[in-house]
Amino acid sequence: MRILLVNGPNLNTLGSREPEIYGTTTLADIERLVRDRAAAHGAEVRAFQANSEGEIIDWLQKEQGEAHGIIINGGALTHYGIALRDAIAGAALPAIEVHISNVYRRESFRHESLLAPVCSGTIIGLKVHGYELAVEALVRIVREKA
Ligand code: DQA
Repeated sequence: MRILLVNGPNLNTLGSREPEIYGTTTLADIERLVRDRAAAHGAEVRAFQANSEGEIIDWLQKEQGEAHGIIINGGALTHYGIALRDAIAGAALPAIEVHISNVYRRESFRHESLLAPVCSGTIIGLKVHGYELAVEALVRIVREKA
């Protein structure tokens, strides 16, 4: 099983970015956590981060044919990225949306996700643990489908 892990704009600066909101775990740490959790289920992970929507879409289009599911934290694109939403829908793979912070405790512009309707489910506000939970959920969803 191959899982695509996608992180959107500004998530490359995790660790130093607003630590009171996002904690001090780096993106490299998160990618390691996800790889380890996936490996425990015999799954492999391809990870990608970009600050621009087009780069993420290009990468998804390149990888989707060989993959079984997607874990995505779209960062701010979550709230306005229609093209990213279309790319996820077009990939026709089960997807889990993750947000490190509890977006519902924050500004109202973060309360809407354009990605949620094309994802199987969303994990919000559980800090980086949400990524590990996403692996558990995705593995089950993919295995149930098979
Ligand atoms: C985020 C929440 C978004 O609103 C924000 O733009 C981010 C990170 C999160 O993981 O909590 O970049 O997706």
